[in-house]
Amino acid sequence: MSPAPDLTKPALRAVILAAGRGTRMRSARPKVLHPLAGRPMVQHLAAALAALGPAEIVVVTAPGEGEVAAAVAPAAGAATVTAAAQDPPLGTGHAVLAAKPALGSRPGTVLVVYGDTPLLSETTLREMVARREQGAAVVVVGFRPADTAAYGRLILDAAGTLARIVEHRDASAEERAVDLCNSGVMAVDGVLLFDLLAGVTADNAKGEYYLTDIVALARGRGLACAMVEAPEAEVLGINSRRELAVAEALVQDRLRERAMAGGASLLDPASVHLSWDTAIGQDVIIEPHVFCGLGVAIGDNVVIRAFSHLEGARIKAGAIVGPFARLRPGARIGEGVHIGNFVEIKNAGIEAGAKVNHLSYVGDARVGAGANIGAGTITCNYDGIAKHHTDIGAGAFIGSNSALVAPVTIGDGAMVGAGSTIAGTVAPGALAVTRAEQKEFAGGAERFRTRARARVAKKAPAAPAPRSKV
Ligand code: UD1
Ligand code: MG
Repeated sequence: MSPAPDLTKPALRAVILAAGRGTRMRSARPKVLHPLAGRPMVQHLAAALAALGPAEIVVVTAPGEGEVAAAVAPAAGAATVTAAAQDPPLGTGHAVLAAKPALGSRPGTVLVVYGDTPLLSETTLREMVARREQGAAVVVVGFRPADTAAYGRLILDAAGTLARIVEHRDASAEERAVDLCNSGVMAVDGVLLFDLLAGVTADNAKGEYYLTDIVALARGRGLACAMVEAPEAEVLGINSRRELAVAEALVQDRLRERAMAGGASLLDPASVHLSWDTAIGQDVIIEPHVFCGLGVAIGDNVVIRAFSHLEGARIKAGAIVGPFARLRPGARIGEGVHIGNFVEIKNAGIEAGAKVNHLSYVGDARVGAGANIGAGTITCNYDGIAKHHTDIGAGAFIGSNSALVAPVTIGDGAMVGAGSTIAGTVAPGALAVTRAEQKEFAGGAERFRTRARARVAKKAPAAPAPRSKV
């Protein structure tokens, strides 16, 4: 249940701008839906906003991009998510105007964020809201990038307070020399926002309606404006695949830091890839080159050995996985289980203390507690039409290179002889073997070799006559 809203405070609302064309991504997918650590970038932003408990989030998109608002909703907490289309895109100020029917003019704070700037921290957002509530009409997040490039510049007055924002294209040489840049993120008084925007014109180098102009307009009315400075990494904008990769690296760093702070040892952190929802317990060891896709939960004291690939897998305390293991969705690895090299587990529960140590495929199955699955065991779960279940009892022993043709049940404590193909039920405690009986021929090996050599000699062409040296 979400906490009861604090009715003494004016509501917080947010607008996510995402109607830009994002052409530099060269993608059929809207830019803000490209994933970082396994979830759409706009969802990272929605989650940071949701931490502040906004009443409403309006997502401004190009027409026909309802999927963007749909992607925001799952991370928006208790906020109502509304989509607003902007058509055509005539600038950031024009984009915020598209949210007017949904927002209206109400007391409180409106946060304006860019969908392609997803690394904003909750701390920065909170600071903006606090500064706004202390009386600033407009609060802007500034930063000092290593390369000031084409960013808008924040121009301060003699007293050091924010006076206006000038876009790079419209800036004088002196203004371009300013290293304090506009991240684009703003917190604005909810009553004044659309009032100020009404005064914005497209009289500038780009011929667009700049949201940034509301700062000078507010100051012109004698209203206070303020600036909150953030680290560059937080306000990184993503416009290309290269920038997406830079952002991914930053997110990965944050996730690895979180895992280590939580008590996990990453032997070579930079080579471990995590997802936003990867849950890692205490005293976990993760060796180099491990990939965790979505939905991975790793319990305490687990060791994930090098080169393992995990997705949708739950691993309980004390298990050892890998090296070179593949856990696919629905893999449920019990306490103290050993999953070894070149083992693939899919939609299967491996119960406490069981071992699958080498070269196996276990899919759509249950492996009972303490069972031992020999090298090369394969559950034949698919007959070309449907998937079937394999049930292996507690303490069972499956000999190496066995094929278990599902649906099939192996009882508790039963044994399967190596090399067997098991298609029928094996009773608890029984021993099943299906391989052909062994035949032996005394001296047969030598007889075989003699015949084989003779055959080869008969077929071989006559050796060429040796050439005399000149
Ligand atoms: C903007 C700022 C600039 C700042 C920079 C930071 C303005 C006028 N300029 O410039 O001061 O330094 O961001 O990255 O605000 N969008 C719409 N509809 C539009 C235009 C844009 O929804 O009509 C959205 C985009 O999808 C994007 C965001 O607004 O999420 C920013 O737009 P963009 O075109 O990248 O603005 P910049 O020119 O980079
Ligand atoms: Mg931009």
